[in-house]
Amino acid sequence: MTRLLAADPAGIAAAADILRGGGLVAFPTETVYGLGADATDDRAVARIFAAKGRPRFNPLIVHVSDGEAAFRLGRGDARARALASALWPGPLTLVLPAAEDCPISLLARAGLDTVALRVPVHPVAQALLAVAGLPIAAPSANRSGHVSPTTAAHVLDDLSGRIDAVLDGGPCPIGLESTVLDLSGASPTLLRPGGVTVEAIEAVIGPIALAGRSDGSAPRSPGRLESHYAPSLPLRLDVLEVAPDEALLAFGPAPPPAPLAINLSREGDLTEAAAGLYAALRSLDAEARKRGLTRIAVMPIPRRGLGLAIADRLRRAAAPRPPRAELNGG
Ligand code: TXA
Ligand code: MG
Repeated sequence: MTRLLAADPAGIAAAADILRGGGLVAFPTETVYGLGADATDDRAVARIFAAKGRPRFNPLIVHVSDGEAAFRLGRGDARARALASALWPGPLTLVLPAAEDCPISLLARAGLDTVALRVPVHPVAQALLAVAGLPIAAPSANRSGHVSPTTAAHVLDDLSGRIDAVLDGGPCPIGLESTVLDLSGASPTLLRPGGVTVEAIEAVIGPIALAGRSDGSAPRSPGRLESHYAPSLPLRLDVLEVAPDEALLAFGPAPPPAPLAINLSREGDLTEAAAGLYAALRSLDAEARKRGLTRIAVMPIPRRGLGLAIADRLRRAAAPRPPRAELNGG
């Protein structure tokens, strides 16, 4: 059975006990809910993949209390330390060379000699890290192939009965995942756009490369090209005219007519759109299927600031994917 814990001292103490015992606790961060386990315990980490039904072992982000804790696990150069002092705590994940004798589970690192580290700013995540006294490995707390959860109810929809507890901290303020920046190679490379903008990173360390673009090499983040964020109905992107069998994910003040629509932001505000993106995809998907619609049309989203991350998520959600039955193998 999955316990729903209040985000008060008693609930946080109970969640920390579960983590120390090798169990799984979903907890709120400023981005999305994470499915947490003791990052130093392979079996606990394996339970994450099992609960999610992940089709393969992607490396996981390891959450820690502060930069000092992070740089005990990964080797941070001057750029890493500058970014840490400017942007941590917050929705930025740094991929660093693993420290010698790094205690993080190899499963959590997918066998790599790097480690992805993040210091969340959410007070409930911070309290849990402090009380548990452990680095916490946590991917988004959804079944594989589903959209990331931004409320405790979303987590329970996907994982009830498969994890030990959910700490309910209310809706996540940002609503999409952290930015992943690889600092393990010669030049800093953006592996996943997210809650911290490219502009904010470049203001600290100067120009960064976008993975897979500059030199045509394979992306270094194994999970980045998978369609992890897909609703069950197919998406059609950059749509200005909606077909009669389509629901509409709208953006801005003048959406075209549609049989069913949710507007991410009437004001055209990208922060508001990001915060509501996954919830909108979930309810649009469910309601559209109920009404016999066959597709979700998505209006164009401007490719600047958080719009880059939103467009990336939508592109992945629209990508061809294996049938659900194959994804839910675990
Ligand atoms: O906002 C977030 O980042 C959320 C919350 C819970 O913190 N977590 C999250 O984790 O989105 P996940 O597992 O869904 O995404 C982790 C991303 C994947 O794209 C993965 O491939 C990449 O980080 N990643 C993790 N470790 C890596 C490594 N050592 N090298 C390259 N990429 C790595
Ligand atoms: Mg995820």
